[in-house]
Amino acid sequence: MKNKEIICGFSKLSKDQKLEYISSHFENPEETASTLKGFYHDDDEKQKIFDEFSENTISNFYFPYGISPNFVIDGKIFHIPMVIEESSVVAAASKSAKFWSDKGGFHTEIISTSKIGQVHFIWKGNIDKLKTLLPDLKERLLDRTREITRNMNQRGGGIIDIELVDKTSEIPDYYQLKASFETVDSMGANFINSCLEEFAAELKDFLMDSPYFTEDEKHCEVIMSILSNYTPDCVVKCSVECDIDDLDGIDGEMTGEEFAWKFQKAVQIAQIDTYRATTHNKGIFNGIDAVALATGNDFRAIEACGHAYASRNGKYTSLTDVSIENGRFKYTLTVPLSLGTVGGLTSLHPLAKLSLELLENPTGRDLMRIAAAVGLANNFGAIKSLVTKGIQKGHMKMHLLNILNNFGASILEKNKAKQYFEDKKVSFNAVDAFLKNLRNPVFVSKEVLAGRS
Ligand code: MEV
Repeated sequence: MKNKEIICGFSKLSKDQKLEYISSHFENPEETASTLKGFYHDDDEKQKIFDEFSENTISNFYFPYGISPNFVIDGKIFHIPMVIEESSVVAAASKSAKFWSDKGGFHTEIISTSKIGQVHFIWKGNIDKLKTLLPDLKERLLDRTREITRNMNQRGGGIIDIELVDKTSEIPDYYQLKASFETVDSMGANFINSCLEEFAAELKDFLMDSPYFTEDEKHCEVIMSILSNYTPDCVVKCSVECDIDDLDGIDGEMTGEEFAWKFQKAVQIAQIDTYRATTHNKGIFNGIDAVALATGNDFRAIEACGHAYASRNGKYTSLTDVSIENGRFKYTLTVPLSLGTVGGLTSLHPLAKLSLELLENPTGRDLMRIAAAVGLANNFGAIKSLVTKGIQKGHMKMHLLNILNNFGASILEKNKAKQYFEDKKVSFNAVDAFLKNLRNPVFVSKEVLAGRS
C-alpha cells in the first residue's frame, strides 16, 4: 500500500476518478480497480440506485441474503429474509423456528408504539412563567407544524404530546421541549426531525412575541433539535411456551426438566452479569439486525435503543426472561423496536422491497412482531447450544466453508472436507492439514488430522 496524502475535493470527482484515485494506492492499481468494478451491478440503472444511497461510492459491498423458513408468529407462517454475514445465525433461527412451529409458535404483543424527539435549549428566564404559558406555546407549536403533520394525521399518527422538561439541576439554564410522536408504519425520523426544527423556530418566536417576558427572557439559545433513538415506549413482547416434557431429548440426552433448569440458570446469569448479558443480547440482535437490514431499516438505531433499554433500571441486563411454572416452560423477549415498512430505504432498495413483499407487506407493528420473533429464536438457539453441546460444534461446522474458501478449496475438495469433518473437530489448522494432505499426500500430524489440534 502506497503512502496517502490529504486530498481536497474528493467528493467532486466522478465515480471513475474516485475509484482510480483509491486504486492508485494499491501495489496493483489495475487489479484493485477490476476487483472493485467486479462488484458493480450489471444493470446501470440498478447500480445508480445503490450509488445514490450514500456518498463517495466506488463499489458495492455484498452481504448474504438468506431465508429462515417456518416461523409461526401469532398463528401465521412466515419465511423470513435475513441479511447477515455471520455463519450459523440463519441456521439457528431456522432450527428454533421449526422447533417452536408445532408448539404454538411465537406469540407477540405490541405494548406501545410512541417515539420521542427533543428540542434542547438554554434559557435564562423565569420557568414558572413559561410553565403557565405552556398551553399557549403548545397550541402555537401544533399550529406551526400543521403542514408537516397533515399526512401523518390522516394515516392515524402525529404529535401525541409536548412537555417542557426542566434540566437545570444538571446543566444551568438547560431545558427541553420533549415531544412524543406516533409515526404509524414509518420509522419516522424525517417526520420527527422536521417537526422538531419547526418547534425550535416557534419557541423563539413565541418568546419574542409574548408580552409576558422581559427583554432578557425573549431570547433562548437552541442547542439542537433531534429525535431520540431511545424509544422505551415503542415496545414489543414475544414469547414461546411449551410443556417441560416437550423439551425431553432436545439435545438427544437431557430430560426436559434438566434442560429447562440449565436454560433458566443461563438466563439468570445474563440477568445479573453484564459480561454475559452483553453477549446474550448480542445473540438477540443477530436476528433482529438481520431482519432490519433485509427490510431496509436502521439497525444502528435499533441496537443503540435495545442496549439502552437493557440498562433502563440502572444496570445492563438480559432482554429476555424465563419462567417455569406448573410444568410449563415460557420464554419471553421484551424489546423496543422502532421499525418502518414505508419510507426510507424500504421501497428504494429493490431487495428491501422484495423482503417486505415476502413478509406480505407488513405494517410497522407487524414487522415489530416478526423481528422480535427472530431475535427470540436466535437467542433460544444460542442458549440451547450453550447449555447442551456447546456453541463451537455447530458453529465450526458452518464455519468450515469459510475456512475452505480461505484456502481457495475447489468444489471437490469442499465435498471431501465436509465428509471428512462430519465426525471431527473443525479448526483452521485441521482444515489446513486436511487440504495439504489432499493436495500433496505426504505425512501430516495424526493429531491434526484427527481434529485434536
Ligand atoms: C454469537 O454471534 C452469538 C452468541 O455468542 C450469543 C450467546 O452467547 O448467547 C452465540
